[in-house]
Amino acid sequence: MESYDLLVVNGLVVTASDIGHYDIAIKGEKIALLAPKGSLTEIAAKRVIDAEGGYVMPGGVDAHVHLDEPQLFGKGKSADDYETGTRSAICGGTTTVITFAPQSKGNTSLFSALQRTHVKAHQNCYTDYSFHLLISSPTPNVLSEFSALREQGISSLKIYMTYEALQLRDDQILDVLLEARRNGITTLIHAENGDILAWMTEQLEARGLYAPKYHATSRPQIVEAEATNRAIALSSIIDTSILIVHVSSPSAAANIRHAQTKGLPIWAETCPQYLLLTRSDLDKPGFEGAKCVCSPPPREGSKDHEAIWRGLANGTFTILSSDHCPFVYNDGERGKKSVLSEEFPEGRFRYIPNGCPGVETRLPLVLCEGKKRLGLSKFVEVTSTNAAKLYGLYPKKGALLAGLSDADLCIWYPEGTLKGLTIKNGQLHHNVDYTPYEGREVGNWPRWTILRGKVQWARDEGGVVGEKGFGEFVMRGASRMAGGERKGDWEVSAF
Ligand SMILES: *[C@@H]1O[C@H](CO)[C@@H](O)[C@H](O)[C@H]1NC(C)=O
Ligand SMILES: *[C@@H]1O[C@H](CO)[C@@H](O)[C@H](O)[C@H]1NC(C)=O
Repeated sequence: MESYDLLVVNGLVVTASDIGHYDIAIKGEKIALLAPKGSLTEIAAKRVIDAEGGYVMPGGVDAHVHLDEPQLFGKGKSADDYETGTRSAICGGTTTVITFAPQSKGNTSLFSALQRTHVKAHQNCYTDYSFHLLISSPTPNVLSEFSALREQGISSLKIYMTYEALQLRDDQILDVLLEARRNGITTLIHAENGDILAWMTEQLEARGLYAPKYHATSRPQIVEAEATNRAIALSSIIDTSILIVHVSSPSAAANIRHAQTKGLPIWAETCPQYLLLTRSDLDKPGFEGAKCVCSPPPREGSKDHEAIWRGLANGTFTILSSDHCPFVYNDGERGKKSVLSEEFPEGRFRYIPNGCPGVETRLPLVLCEGKKRLGLSKFVEVTSTNAAKLYGLYPKKGALLAGLSDADLCIWYPEGTLKGLTIKNGQLHHNVDYTPYEGREVGNWPRWTILRGKVQWARDEGGVVGEKGFGEFVMRGASRMAGGERKGDWEVSAF
């Protein structure tokens, strides 16, 4: 008789396309079999996990995670490295992260960036991982390296329309998009108009307004909506797929929806902070508001959150990622407090390291509301399956297809058994001294997280039970999102 390494029985299995009572058999690192509940009881296996009716989902794929990056904003330095960041991810049900390999400004080759990032991640990860190449100087040599990137399993890159050290001009963006199209690469774009927000910042500082809350004032929705619109226009000239990262503004979302309705290959991402935080979280006593300084900023209130939820439900947003970008709060050298001085006791918002931690809380924060507003399958689609399809990891990741998918699972507690559970930073596994979600009630939490057949997180049986270094680099292919593939060279004669 066939024998297996692990059986997961009595779960309510949820994938992007199906919900049902199945038992799952795992052999080695792969899903071997999904069978109706109860039908695997006689089968030999080294270990059996009884999910007791809890949801069993493909492991989360978080496609927007910043780890161990060099300093970009003032003095800030990423609090998490590959070890602590992926440890935090696995404890929150995420089995694959895509982080960034940043090209240093002015460096003429991408391969040093890729190599450096490989060294940082190698043998340090609790999850599987890949990188988006972050392009800051698209020189001719850099552009010529895109095809070699594909050979090394990298099929996406990221560019910025803001931040002094990273902002590209429109013609540089067109250069990148054209070369990306030629090589079947998906381009992620941070869409905020850097010139407007720099000008707004000058206006605020000229009036003596430096507190963290003015970070939001300096970046009104139009800053995001304009850049989103421009990114769409640039992509439409090249006719190539882009993904607008971390969309917070309903008007930017409406621009994206409009482009999608016209058939343009525009994908979009949002994050839990844009469903849960508002600009009033930046307006706390003292310097506390700095904890929630991220870009784009959290918006006005529940009306904005409603529009983002609607966009998740109606397909405007392809994926929900964390944009985990951690800085220690109580650190005057490299953390949020590095901007405090005698001259500026409230700091200067323009230099506050931008970003919030969230890789561990992403799935639990959104599951409870998400299952009501989106349904369970859509929840899996936006938190796992679509990220795998979009970035060339499917069906190895994001699915539970027998023989094809890695045995990556997130197994939740049976609904109702963790009533009243609240988030406490002391119980998280990142290397950060706060969470923006302290005290927030979540109805559930991942009970086991399994990566390629190996239990890495067992909340009731020792917590982190896996080893760092089990996580592997995953080679990625072209995007599998329908409509994303644009074939043939670009012809100026089309205009
Ligand atoms: C690019 O980065 C690599 C690795 O950090 C370094 O060895 C090289 O000198 C850099 N090149 C330039 C032109 O800055
Ligand atoms: C879908 O959601 C987006 C973002 O909130 C919104 O702009 C659009 O009107 C919605 N479309 C439909 C048909 O509901």
